[in-house]
Amino acid sequence: MDEVTPVPVALGPRRGAPPPRSLRGAGAVDAARLGLFAAKLRVKEHLLPGLHVRPLVAELFLTDNCNLRCTSCACWRSETEEELTTAEWRDVLDQLRQLRFVKVNMTGGEPLLRPDAIELIAYATDIGLRTVHLNTNATMLDPYRQRLLREAGVRSFNVSVDGPDAAIHDGVRGRRGAFERTMANLRALLDRSDRDQFDVRLSFTVLRSNADAVPAMGRLARSLGVPLYLNLGSDTTFLFRDPEISAAIDVESDRLEASIEELRAMARADPELLPTPSQLDYALAHFGDLKQADLPCVESQLKLLVHSTGEVGGCWGHDASMNLRRHRLADIIDSDDYRESHRRFFRKECVGCGSGYALNLRLRANTHIRDRRRRRFDGPSVDPDRRPVEER
Ligand SMILES: C[S@@+](CC[C@H](N)C(=O)[O-])C[C@H]1O[C@@H](n2cnc3c(N)ncnc32)[C@H](O)[C@@H]1O
Ligand code: SF4
Ligand code: SF4
Repeated sequence: MDEVTPVPVALGPRRGAPPPRSLRGAGAVDAARLGLFAAKLRVKEHLLPGLHVRPLVAELFLTDNCNLRCTSCACWRSETEEELTTAEWRDVLDQLRQLRFVKVNMTGGEPLLRPDAIELIAYATDIGLRTVHLNTNATMLDPYRQRLLREAGVRSFNVSVDGPDAAIHDGVRGRRGAFERTMANLRALLDRSDRDQFDVRLSFTVLRSNADAVPAMGRLARSLGVPLYLNLGSDTTFLFRDPEISAAIDVESDRLEASIEELRAMARADPELLPTPSQLDYALAHFGDLKQADLPCVESQLKLLVHSTGEVGGCWGHDASMNLRRHRLADIIDSDDYRESHRRFFRKECVGCGSGYALNLRLRANTHIRDRRRRRFDGPSVDPDRRPVEER
């Protein structure tokens, strides 16, 4: 998620900032609750480390199964059975509504593999969970499903593209033809995004096999007119633990540095679509330090993760100990176990992972001011794509 509503404290967002992309459309009450959330985290960081701050955004893993075979991911490596039924997911959504969550992210695995995915999204909207987001590989996001999803109330999409061409993307995604389908569906989605007022973000996971393609991804995002998010490969989070994945995220820092610096120059010319200087610094440091412990983990405080088989936790790197098949969500969130683990997660007493790093940065006091300064003073704002080809 992006920044939250104006609060007169350093953790708050910049004044005059546009509404957060992923929460555009959130009502004034939701916005106020996010502002309060940010203020509480500031108190937690500086005054009361034990302060219990309840999550506001739910990450729902509708399924852990998938139709692709990504080298970076474990979802497809075994079949997950006994996933929550439609009725159980409806009950989860009812509970989230009662707990006044402001946003629901549908993810997986590939969420569109579930035949009831669209029905569940429509249900979420109907009961008043107004901001529903979908993460997808977009292979199944054909124009028909796009229409149904828009009608069901999806407000924003993350579409994963792991390379600027079929060779790189399909190499990561483990299926020939995936790039062609994903790009065709992404283009169709983007064609409607202005008219139907939903957001689309292109999510690129940085890995050993595609680290050189970072600048080309910047060019692809610009040519499509879609914001680019650099997702950072990790092998600590619950979906990504496997020796093959550890090898896939073994990124050589000098190679990445060259790629990131090229993207940085491009981003100066196109700050709307490309990552901020602080995000690029973070990305560069990530593969040598998965934790970056000086930056508190806001992600673990904001999000409630509901796994496909009912486990509930608030952190990507640590296994959940309670299951909603046995406990109500409210009881889990208020349990001693949840409180204690979340005290530690906020301070990065954890295994470390790159999840939510942009949010963690954004809620830092001076990130925005520093980024503005960096953009102004870090060298000339020359658009590298407008230099003569022989100079590139
Ligand atoms: C697990 S997928 C679920 C949604 C959907 N199947 C997709 O691919 O977008 C969510 C995101 O995790 C990213 N991802 C995959 N492997 C990863 C890894 N090892 N580290 C970090 N992110 C990873 C994917 O590229 C995708 O953007
Ligand atoms: S990253 Fe997404 S598409 Fe790839 S295997 Fe994992 S869940 Fe499937
Ligand atoms: S950075 Fe640490 S606390 Fe935050 S989600 Fe990752 S493992 Fe959990």
